[in-house]
Amino acid sequence: MKDKIAVLTGAGVSAESGLGTYRDNGGLWDNYDPMEVASIEGWYRNRKLVLDFYNMQRAKLRDAQPNAAHLAIAALEDKYDVTVITQNVDNLHEKAGSTRVIHLHGEATKVRPENGVYDESYSEREVIDVGYEPVNLGDKAPNGSQLRPHIVFFGEAVPKIERAIDIVSAADLLLIVGTSMQVYPAAGLYRYADPKTPIYVVDPADLPLHDPRITHIKDVATKGMEKFTKILEER
Ligand code: APR
Repeated sequence: MKDKIAVLTGAGVSAESGLGTYRDNGGLWDNYDPMEVASIEGWYRNRKLVLDFYNMQRAKLRDAQPNAAHLAIAALEDKYDVTVITQNVDNLHEKAGSTRVIHLHGEATKVRPENGVYDESYSEREVIDVGYEPVNLGDKAPNGSQLRPHIVFFGEAVPKIERAIDIVSAADLLLIVGTSMQVYPAAGLYRYADPKTPIYVVDPADLPLHDPRITHIKDVATKGMEKFTKILEER
């Protein structure tokens, strides 16, 4: 049986593909108020603003290409049983060839009815893949309700967190790439790793993580993944 690797990624893994991060200098949340464009209260206050924001995010993905870090993560599947748990709403892990990707915070290329129930048991049968096309006020789901981004807004539950906890708990190795570890519950996932499970973190910044199991590869995702792959080969 192959060893299991759980990979938790954040915006940093896509930074070198030209997609900005959220909290770095000049990041998305420097230019937009997340409570306006990415919260459930913001949605009910001004649906058009939120739809336009995600139309813009979705359009950026049309030409975005996976970088060497996404490709290196996909290549781990040659030798390991890999599940990617991503906080990203982009589709670059899929474009790189990763076959098992859990989108904790939803997907920018998808929408669903505003009045639908969305939780783990309900599955995703009302979710519609719109690719890179805009969705506007008045665009309705088959059930007649306004379409909304298939995004976990601030203020909403994270339906896939239980599945992510199971994956991390069962992992033989945990790899964390490009996340500031500031947004919960994703930021707390590593605590579910077994006490004997090594944890590797690839990020150019110092992170608020204090755990003796952690090896910090302090580099950008592309170079850091090269180093990580080498470490893995030498283990
Ligand atoms: N390679 C690797 N990491 C990088 C790079 C790079 N080239 N450039 C920046 N980073 C790191 C930063 O050092 C930082 O730790 O990526 C991280 C980005 O952090 P955030 O912008 O906070 O993004 P993320 O952790 O993914 O945010 C979590 O917040 O607003 C929400 O829903 C949104 O999923 C997102 C969540």
